[in-house]
Amino acid sequence: MTLASQLLTWYYENARDLPWRQNNDAYKVWVSEIMLQQTRVEAVKNYYTRWMERFPTLDTLARSSEQEVLTYWQGLGYYSRARNLLLGVREVCARYDGKVPDNAAEILRLPGVGEYTAGAIASIAYNRPVPAVDGNVLRIFSRLFCIEDDITKQGTKRKIHGLIQNCMPKEQPGNFNQALMDLGSAICIPGHPRCSLCPLTKYCEAYAREVQDVLPVRPPRKQPLHVTLASGIVKNGESLLVRQRPSTGLLAKMWEFPSIELEKNSAPSAMLPALIKADLAQEIVLGQKLFHCIHTFSHRKWDITFFDCRWLDGGALPPFARWLPISEITSLPWAGPHLKAAAALFK
Ligand code: ADE
Repeated sequence: MTLASQLLTWYYENARDLPWRQNNDAYKVWVSEIMLQQTRVEAVKNYYTRWMERFPTLDTLARSSEQEVLTYWQGLGYYSRARNLLLGVREVCARYDGKVPDNAAEILRLPGVGEYTAGAIASIAYNRPVPAVDGNVLRIFSRLFCIEDDITKQGTKRKIHGLIQNCMPKEQPGNFNQALMDLGSAICIPGHPRCSLCPLTKYCEAYAREVQDVLPVRPPRKQPLHVTLASGIVKNGESLLVRQRPSTGLLAKMWEFPSIELEKNSAPSAMLPALIKADLAQEIVLGQKLFHCIHTFSHRKWDITFFDCRWLDGGALPPFARWLPISEITSLPWAGPHLKAAAALFK
């Protein structure tokens, strides 16, 4: 038996029952793969199901507004994924008559689609023998072939890509790639893999040499930058003062309560009212702390405190800000920690 047929036999008995595996429609594979980047399978399941109820076809999604699409992504994080997905499906409508192209090279040219996603769509939806190499697959192959080079280096990735290509079966390439995903999530896990359950131990060089626990080799992670923020909950009648973040950078175009990054040891008491006056033309008096949370992004950790602010007076708001009726809180795509505060304070 080859490595591929051994793996496929295992997969047919052990494949996870996941909502996006019910059919191989390219649009559905595409959505699931974008959601699954940087997000755990368990967390994606409900988002995926809700998404398909609202945007069941590529065409429905292409005709929807970015703001609505973002509310359906709300909570998954890394919102540029949703924006690019929307740009991508619109491009498929404009250039490919609404049908996702059936080869990895063309899929790769769509916005937000990298090599991994192009390989996953081409193999799962169109049976093309193209690898879909993510961190799980790199880990599995670094062990199978006992690769001791730094796994984060492009050269190492290229080498592993070549090894996978040599193992890819002509039949069932989509299932082969999905089998690797399941093996990586349940058995060939980081740290101490569950080799006693693995269908591939007889092919695994790391297992033979008993070095599976120290592979793959990667440099130590950088700590995320710690940022302290103060944010103002300004209430005027039954409305809240909110603003949209700039169109580039972290959490681009998401909505938030007016906030300011604090210098080390500086108090929010002077900074926050001055910011709200300068940026939003509103006079407020800072009150007590209402809510605190810590939110970790890939490169940043926000330590954010929300303060009650008494509204005194104000002029017209700039175009990026508005008074949001409390009853409409769930209609906006929020920056994550601000949604936590809104949910905790205005349930
Ligand atoms: N991780 C990334 N893509 C996946 C898929 N299609 N199934 C399960 N886990 C995944």
